[in-house]
Amino acid sequence: MAAIVSAKLLEWYDAHARDLPWRARPGAPAPDPYRVWLSEVMLQQTTVAAVKPYFDAFTTRWPTVEDLAAAPEEDVMAAWAGLGYYSRARNLVKAARAVAVLGAFPDTEEGLRELPGLGAYTAAAVAAIAFGRRAVVVDANVERVVARLFAIREPLPSARKAIRTCADTITPEERAGDFAQAMMDLGSSICTSRDPKCLLCPLANECKGRAEGDPSLLPAKAPKKAKPLRKGTAFWIENDGAVWLVTREGQGMLGGMRALPDDGWSARGDGDEVAPLIGEWEAAGVVRHTFTHFALELSVRRYAGAQPPIGTGEWWPLDRLEDAGLPTLFAKAARLATA
Ligand code: ADE
Repeated sequence: MAAIVSAKLLEWYDAHARDLPWRARPGAPAPDPYRVWLSEVMLQQTTVAAVKPYFDAFTTRWPTVEDLAAAPEEDVMAAWAGLGYYSRARNLVKAARAVAVLGAFPDTEEGLRELPGLGAYTAAAVAAIAFGRRAVVVDANVERVVARLFAIREPLPSARKAIRTCADTITPEERAGDFAQAMMDLGSSICTSRDPKCLLCPLANECKGRAEGDPSLLPAKAPKKAKPLRKGTAFWIENDGAVWLVTREGQGMLGGMRALPDDGWSARGDGDEVAPLIGEWEAAGVVRHTFTHFALELSVRRYAGAQPPIGTGEWWPLDRLEDAGLPTLFAKAARLATA
């Protein structure tokens, strides 16, 4: 079965591969490892449509890994603003600097794994796509395709081990990068979560999930725990056409990003609330935002007094606020405050 699956899938990919800015055409020489790595980091937890403009902006501004390595971290963080999961951007700079010291990207999965912050998924994807190595590349799309193909009924996340083992059995020695991207394309266009288009699927005859009934029920998922709710306050302090911005502490939530000053919600436990600062504040509204481990309700308060702010920060001109690189949470807060 394994050889049939990979042959049929690659044949389908040759005809239907998506044209994406970080890809080579099927069977063509491998693309630049820098572009492959950058795209794979951006694509984690983020859709292709959301990534494309960021990928274009990054590769225009920093065309090589050496250019990115030489960039100030705060410029990279600001350019990443809006993509979320900001530890990816911090690790991106660290890994780029390590590659610049090495002189080139390591060309094996194990070598790539040694770069700072580069996880198992990214190492496998870059080894396969940029260096033609046989590597087992499993992202959420691939997980779904494999769970259906082999009718794996164990729920996620515990099914991950079995899914990986099965994915390994169908990964070919040759064209492992095209195979991985073919699985991703199949998952995003045909083997979709809600409404799989089995009549168009090149693997329909091999699919155990289809043979056994309704593939759209796979992979099963363990019930999600409700995320705890945290409450916090952000402060909009405006003076003479400028707003007071701070840069968040390096390692914590949204570390290294420019932000509105706040009451320290990110360092508190769930449910703790801090009384708002005393003074002339007016409520501007509430922003709701979901992070990986908790949901946040952020009240936005506008300062209407004459006292200058205390602490370190900068007056940022309001007519250039888009250039501040505010993460989405604070960009939403700023929209409320200026509405
Ligand atoms: N998602 C993650 N990596 C991808 C890739 N190389 N092509 C399309 N979607 C992806």
